[in-house]
Amino acid sequence: MSTQIKEIDNYFSIKLELIPLNMKVPCDIFIQEDGELKVILKKGEHFSLEIKNSIKYKKIDTIYVNNTDKKVFQDFILEFKPKEYFNSLLDRYIINNELFYKIEKECLDPEVPVTFSLYLHDGKSLNLLLEASEETPRRVSKENFSEGDILISKKDLNLYKEYLQSLISATKSNSKILKETTKLILREIYSEPINRKNLLILGDKIDEIIEYGTLEANALKKLLIMKKLDNYSYVHAFNVMTLCVALGLKIKLNREELRLLGLASALHDIGKINISPLILSKIGKLNEKEFQIYKTHVIESVKIAEQLGVSKDVIDGIAHHHEKLNGTGYPFNLKGEQISLFGRIIAIADAYEMLTTPKPLKYPLSPYNALMILVQDKKCYDKSLLEIFIKMLGRLI
Ligand SMILES: [Fe+2]
Repeated sequence: MSTQIKEIDNYFSIKLELIPLNMKVPCDIFIQEDGELKVILKKGEHFSLEIKNSIKYKKIDTIYVNNTDKKVFQDFILEFKPKEYFNSLLDRYIINNELFYKIEKECLDPEVPVTFSLYLHDGKSLNLLLEASEETPRRVSKENFSEGDILISKKDLNLYKEYLQSLISATKSNSKILKETTKLILREIYSEPINRKNLLILGDKIDEIIEYGTLEANALKKLLIMKKLDNYSYVHAFNVMTLCVALGLKIKLNREELRLLGLASALHDIGKINISPLILSKIGKLNEKEFQIYKTHVIESVKIAEQLGVSKDVIDGIAHHHEKLNGTGYPFNLKGEQISLFGRIIAIADAYEMLTTPKPLKYPLSPYNALMILVQDKKCYDKSLLEIFIKMLGRLI
């Protein structure tokens, strides 16, 4: 039996490598061959190494399931390969065996021609929006952008980075481009942390944010990313970093301290990549056992930061970001002055960012209400830092 692919939205695609071996599959599995979808495994059949190798032999690395089976299939993968599946969700799209990335529409400048094609994904199907290449650059017309995500092909990711770089050189500091380029690098770091080259690029981005925050009065407002329900770890990291650098500027940290604070806040939750997404994305309260596992993300973050070879101040900032001034925090139950300055700063920014983040079945708090919660819990935070933080954000309310 085979089915012609008419619309990609009828099928959900996933990398072959993510399917656990020797398990009964919970639904029919398809592969795409000669432009057609063919059933390779029926519901309840075992996914054996033999079948896997036979698919690989055909040079196929993506399988499909019917959209009606998407939920049951995702749960199946999540149960056996949570970490790998979590990584595959970093706003990447795999469509017809090709990898696409979502980009920010606001960063496309109608004045500057793009050297890569743009696609529109309206939640259902993928359509070519603008065909362009290095040989035939094209200008973008913003009227073309209807509702949906703008995607680029993975092979064009470097051209997109160059495009953003050319916008930076052509104009003065621009919050949207600064946001997008920093997000790109954080996205890479949160999917592949052990890469020192990315860390150096992140350092440059932190410098730009410091520079921008020094020059631009409304920097904080422009840099913070408004989040939808489908938020990602690196978006949280970006916002916490922005809030920390802004607070660091207010308390007049020197350039080097700001840079280290930026690094600590960008990496504070990197260890979450080693925590099951079933816990990270659980709707409702974690039970005691789950919470114990959740808490290990701090030590996991420290381990990754140590592997990256960052300085002790950065490590301490990461290690202390869930400590509370009254000793009720974790993992070390530190008190008052035992908690490093960076740890105390990140704790405030992290708590605020979490409170203002939308979650399933939970509305985000407004900035005002989030600050009120921090004030209620003031015994947990450094008093003078909290006062400065509230004053700083008071302008946004
Ligand atoms: Fe955390």
